[in-house]
Amino acid sequence: MSARPHDGRPRVFVTRRLPEAWRTPLTAAGLEVDAAAGDEPLSSAALRARSVGAAALWVQLNDTVDAALLDAAGAALRVVATYSVGTNHIDLEACRARGVVVARTPDVLTDATADLALALLLAAARRLPEGQRLVAGGAWTGWAPTQLLGVELRGRTLGVVGLGRIGAAVARRARAFGMRLAYHQRRPRPEVAEPLEARFEPDLDALLPRSDVLTLHAPLTPETHHLLDARRLRLLPRGALLVNTARGPLVDEAALVAVLRDGHLAGAGLDVYEEEPRLQPGLLELPNVVLAPHLGSATVDTRRAMARLCTDAIVAVLRGERPPNAVA
Ligand code: DGY
Repeated sequence: MSARPHDGRPRVFVTRRLPEAWRTPLTAAGLEVDAAAGDEPLSSAALRARSVGAAALWVQLNDTVDAALLDAAGAALRVVATYSVGTNHIDLEACRARGVVVARTPDVLTDATADLALALLLAAARRLPEGQRLVAGGAWTGWAPTQLLGVELRGRTLGVVGLGRIGAAVARRARAFGMRLAYHQRRPRPEVAEPLEARFEPDLDALLPRSDVLTLHAPLTPETHHLLDARRLRLLPRGALLVNTARGPLVDEAALVAVLRDGHLAGAGLDVYEEEPRLQPGLLELPNVVLAPHLGSATVDTRRAMARLCTDAIVAVLRGERPPNAVA
């Protein structure tokens, strides 16, 4: 372990408040832990200042890790562990160029995120936001034959964009609800798709018209930014539902508001937004939109397991080993 600022121990800078118990593997490994005190992201200037001389950064999905931050941290920096599976906030090339290992938290958050996708899907299909408002607003006058009729899932097609770990877990859950499955990504994944009878669709434009519900599980890259633009949103069948638990910028949010407002889409379940925590104007006023505050991995078990992956990766890299969850 080479970086020796402060009291001589290599320093890990943790960019957000985390339970102390989740950090103990770091102190047990002889590392100095310097953790930010709050839940709010630090400004980029504060992030840079606190990173100076750190051997490891434990960052969050809303911290930008770019060349400027890596340079501010300096030559002692060996590893960036992100408390997320997504790495779109990290300049992986800049890390590679400086020999900084990047580790993330795959697998352990798959079930929690897939559960949330199903929760959003079911809430939108059965119009729960409208029901909640009716009851909570005191306007409910009792059961009525045609009140808030929703969509049944059995026999409907779920289009899955990205049949990776989370997409496959969502597909398995949807299958249990009797849905048909189709998926799009660059290459087919028969070993996952065949047991689910999920049809591969190499052309996203061809998947959309067949999808009564579309669920997004693609990583955010320059190529997938606004993957669902205004044109593609209108390729979905009238009355379709959209679920997004991946990354907000996959969808042109202004265009999404327009297709929800004019009734082309019947509803949406969103956990992620284009410019979190800012909401697209008009989104809040739409009746059948379920909005969660990026809760995909937010269960006690999952967040604890994610912490363990981060601490193990940091300790491994500072011991000169490459952790299994390294991506750069
Ligand atoms: C991730 O880990 O990338 C997810 O967005 C967390 O919910």
